[in-house]
Amino acid sequence: MQDRIKSILQMEPSEKTVKAEGWVRTKRDSKNVCFLELNDGSCLKGLQCVIDKNVIGSEILDKISTGASVIAEGKIVPSQGGNQKTEMATEKLQIVGECPADYPLQKKRHTVEFLREKAYLRPRTNLFGAVTRVRNTMAYAVHSFFQENGFIYVNTPLISASDCEGAGAQFQVTTLDLENVPKTEDGKVDYSKDFFGRMANLTVSGQLEGETYATAMKNIYTFGPTFRAENSNTARHLAEFWMIEPEMAFCTLEGDMEWAEKFLKYVFSAVLEKNPEDMEFFSSFVLNGVVDTLRHVIESPFAHMTYTEAIKVLEPENDRFEFPVKWGVEIQSEHERFLTEQVAKCPVIVTDYPKDIKAFYMKMNDDGKTVRAMDVLAPRLGEIIGGSEREYRYDVLVSRMTELGLKPEDYWWYLDLRKYGTVPHAGFGLGFERAVQYVTGVANIRDVIPYPRYVKSCEY
Ligand code: 4AD
Ligand code: MG
Repeated sequence: MQDRIKSILQMEPSEKTVKAEGWVRTKRDSKNVCFLELNDGSCLKGLQCVIDKNVIGSEILDKISTGASVIAEGKIVPSQGGNQKTEMATEKLQIVGECPADYPLQKKRHTVEFLREKAYLRPRTNLFGAVTRVRNTMAYAVHSFFQENGFIYVNTPLISASDCEGAGAQFQVTTLDLENVPKTEDGKVDYSKDFFGRMANLTVSGQLEGETYATAMKNIYTFGPTFRAENSNTARHLAEFWMIEPEMAFCTLEGDMEWAEKFLKYVFSAVLEKNPEDMEFFSSFVLNGVVDTLRHVIESPFAHMTYTEAIKVLEPENDRFEFPVKWGVEIQSEHERFLTEQVAKCPVIVTDYPKDIKAFYMKMNDDGKTVRAMDVLAPRLGEIIGGSEREYRYDVLVSRMTELGLKPEDYWWYLDLRKYGTVPHAGFGLGFERAVQYVTGVANIRDVIPYPRYVKSCEY
């Protein structure tokens, strides 16, 4: 196994020969010396390879250009230049794959829009390399947080027969011939002829199945892809995104909020600890001060307000909003940003939303008007977590479903949980990409997932 460039950069100068494998980021030539900067994705900085043209001839050097893959061998020596402590005095150089001049990632700075069209190459840029490493740290931290706290990781199905959010934003999964759809006698699609013998969709959330495991294992979490066919062409919506959904039994909304705050802070701290170099990069080139903001968020308690309180704060400001608010309407991202950026100046947890704008499974408050919902709102982005205490009372849940036009018999197994040893329980969902956006300061969600899927776009 070869050393990665990250560890080579930490080596003290010595007589030992080391080998580095990577892709050429830049090549600079002078009369007798050639400088190559090699990057292998292990860190932001590259390894400077200094090549004496008397040692390695032009028959090799002429073939090397930005993007080529090479293996360089030599000793680590103190660097003459000011940009790095050490460099490699290269003794052997092997080209593995040449890279012709039409390579799209030339030395200049490219726009994210351009790079989105080159999504298969963009991890080779500083920005996407850093995003990829931070996303990796966050994914690992998600698992360590829950594992350290005794949660069980559960894999809920991606193909689902029930609609968790009841929003009708599902992608259908079918093997029916769309040119020749089988029909029943009354002219409807005959799903009994479909693969599953019934209608099926890609899941919008693993929550309902997660609840079934929480009511056996007490504390569980899921971490997987979810799919929404929302026609939202925004910088914070994807059609395929990753969600983390913990679910805790014997837990009410208060416990739910405590877990959410502790969890976010843990994941943010992990990034500051493990990716300081990448975070400095984001602070300098993506969003000024993002590291300080993150530190502030980790150190201070989140603000809390009920939906009703939030509306009281927002209503006098209606002039500044595209969508004026009043009690009962959805809080949109402009309002969420106002609450977090102007009012609280930190993340805000809004609770107790009107029942009419939230999903059927949320526990009804005694006022009969609001439910035990909570959204965690973050400055810049708005909602990053949505959660609630669940309705665990059989009769109340049935009447909620009926009220919303859902058929209780479609959710018979979910209702059974309320029949067999029901228990207060609560959970939430963190949109993983929104969390990555928040940490890195990257403005568009399409740039924090390798291959973004959104309305009218499914490249690669
Ligand atoms: O608020 P949502 O819809 O809640 C649920 O799905 C619940 N079942 C969660 C639970 O209680 N277990 O979605 C949760 C989070 C949002 O707060 C947001 O961060 C993210 O998922 N999200 C999206 N991220 C990217 N693109 C989209 N289209 C998203 N829709 C939701
Ligand atoms: Mg939500």
